[in-house]
Amino acid sequence: MPSPADVHDVPLQETFDATIAAEQRIEPRDWMPDGYRKTLIRQIAQHAHSEIIGMQPEGNWLTRAPSLRRKAILTAKVQDEAGHGMYLYSAAETLGVDREDLTTKLIEGRQKYSSIFNYPTLTYADVGTIGWLVDGAAICNQVPLCRSSFGPYARAMIRVCKEESFHQRQGYELLTTMMRGTDEQRAMVQESVNRWWWPALMMFGPPDDQSPNTAQSMAWGVKRHTNDELRQRFVDMSIPQAQALGVTFPDPDLAWNAERGSYDFGEPDWSEFMAIVKGNGPTNLARIARRRAAHEDGAWVREAATAFAAKQAGQTRSEEVQP
Ligand SMILES: [Fe+2]
Ligand SMILES: [Fe+2]
Repeated sequence: MPSPADVHDVPLQETFDATIAAEQRIEPRDWMPDGYRKTLIRQIAQHAHSEIIGMQPEGNWLTRAPSLRRKAILTAKVQDEAGHGMYLYSAAETLGVDREDLTTKLIEGRQKYSSIFNYPTLTYADVGTIGWLVDGAAICNQVPLCRSSFGPYARAMIRVCKEESFHQRQGYELLTTMMRGTDEQRAMVQESVNRWWWPALMMFGPPDDQSPNTAQSMAWGVKRHTNDELRQRFVDMSIPQAQALGVTFPDPDLAWNAERGSYDFGEPDWSEFMAIVKGNGPTNLARIARRRAAHEDGAWVREAATAFAAKQAGQTRSEEVQP
């Protein structure tokens, strides 16, 4: 016999299903299945953590930017990523989780962030390549999320994508400038592209037949395209850009397939991907150690902000009682 709660849930589930079917948004006040809430918390938290950890590889070059102009551009870009993290933590909080708790899970290694940020940035060309390929892949992933069924996530993605588009262009512009420079600069760009191409392809996640949650996420409107569809879109988009730039990708299997109207490409090294996901990438430990140190060093700021907010609230109350 169904419990009273189950009886109560039937019309709620129907309303939820009808909202998804009509391509309308689910808002935080609406009833939603537990699995939907958990999937979104996991996805949004992982996305927020990626924005925050993603500040580190490029932040590494802030003090060594080759000119004031490059320093100003890179500072703006890294600050944008902090902002993306903040929007996304706020979106996650509408689902009933606490940001402090999410941060703890990140620094204890209980929640993940994108594996791309576990590769080191070895030259200034990496700043350009990350903008072009890593932010470029992020755009492919995130533009469809502007239509996510969960309202706060979809709305956050609209602004995030506008800024990602600036990130992608600043990267491409930096590489274009270097390609017009010396032979040494051109070699530096090609070497950087060689290191980032495969990790960028892995940003779309494992192949569809090894991605067990995709079908449910697509049915819920949380995900709009499969990993392989997005990867193909990214490859097709990037090849003409590489040609215009004058660089090549390190994949002997890249070839135009007239029948499919798309480029064929080789298989990324998924064993490398799995090793990094499990925490064994070149910089996993350093990234988390740095994030943990920043969190601990910032404790006094959080305490001061809390004390200030309490004081403001007290003042507001005492003003209210005065005539
Ligand atoms: Fe971002
Ligand atoms: Fe970005």
